[in-house]
Amino acid sequence: MNRYETIRFLLHERPETRTESAEAFAPANIALCKYWGKRDPELNLPATGSLSISLGHLGATTRVSLREGADEIFLNGEPLPDATPFHQRLVEFLNPFRPEADAGFRVDTHNNLPTAAGFATSAAGFAALVLALDRLMGWGLDARTLSILARMGSGSACRSLFHGFVEWHIGKREDGMDSYAEPLPETWPALRMATLTVSNAAKPVGSTEGMNRTRDTSVLYRAWPDKVAADLQALRTAIHTQDFELLGRAAESNAMSLHATMLGAWPPLCYWQPESLAAMHKVWALRAAGVPLYFTMDAGPNLKLLFLQEEQAMVCGHFPGADVIAPFDHA
Ligand code: DP6
Repeated sequence: MNRYETIRFLLHERPETRTESAEAFAPANIALCKYWGKRDPELNLPATGSLSISLGHLGATTRVSLREGADEIFLNGEPLPDATPFHQRLVEFLNPFRPEADAGFRVDTHNNLPTAAGFATSAAGFAALVLALDRLMGWGLDARTLSILARMGSGSACRSLFHGFVEWHIGKREDGMDSYAEPLPETWPALRMATLTVSNAAKPVGSTEGMNRTRDTSVLYRAWPDKVAADLQALRTAIHTQDFELLGRAAESNAMSLHATMLGAWPPLCYWQPESLAAMHKVWALRAAGVPLYFTMDAGPNLKLLFLQEEQAMVCGHFPGADVIAPFDHA
């Protein structure tokens, strides 16, 4: 089954109680153990599992309604031009959700992430869109089905359906029905993340292309599945026993290994800027001086610092530009 057929299958014979319009919020998420590489690009089935932390009240709020004619998509109040690749990706994603083949949607998404923080907002956006579509059509889908649907918009979106720590199961099935995310039961209110913005420029190579290139050309990628298995285990233990140093070490080592696989790709993928490397050295120097401070990085130049609440004043003193997030603060 292709993506269209898989989504139609999941929505097949759902009873409907349609409303005029519906709204939903989904948090952004940052992976502590990264998703990088697909075993099936059509259904966004991952080559490994991954584990993230959601960013509390920071994320996307999406309102959807049905309309006659073509889809209308707004991002932060601005219409998204039809010709952009993201518009086309959204229209294609929406196709299997249409109650009639010629029905259009109006989609209005607002992100409340720190504007300059260089976050990937598509994960929160696709998760909020799927939740809003479920409310609009009154399908009453369960969390697992919603996660599978969001995954087909963007892989990491399947984790944005939940708060706190979230694990995305790799799954084995060809149809992807066992590849979905689930929240872990543990919370960690003292955990803090701070974004360190090095550059806001759009990244030259997006995640989808970057992971495909790495998987196809980097010999270092062969070591990645074993690295992920070890880091996932360490993170689960760290979260369960609230061992911050273990969590920080596993997350930072996972991010560094991820970037090593990218450096080995051809053409090479280096998302770092000189300022990224300077910030890493600053973290390492502080750690050598006894400060429990770690970082993670996605496919971009910005660092996300990891530390505990008791270190917040000190971290902000050393990194005045850092934007602090309390991931469990979403009541
Ligand atoms: C480095 O989920 O954006 O942030 O499935 O192709 O849409 P697609 O990719 P995407 O990739 C995220 C990559 C990452 C790691 C992570 O979030 O796990």
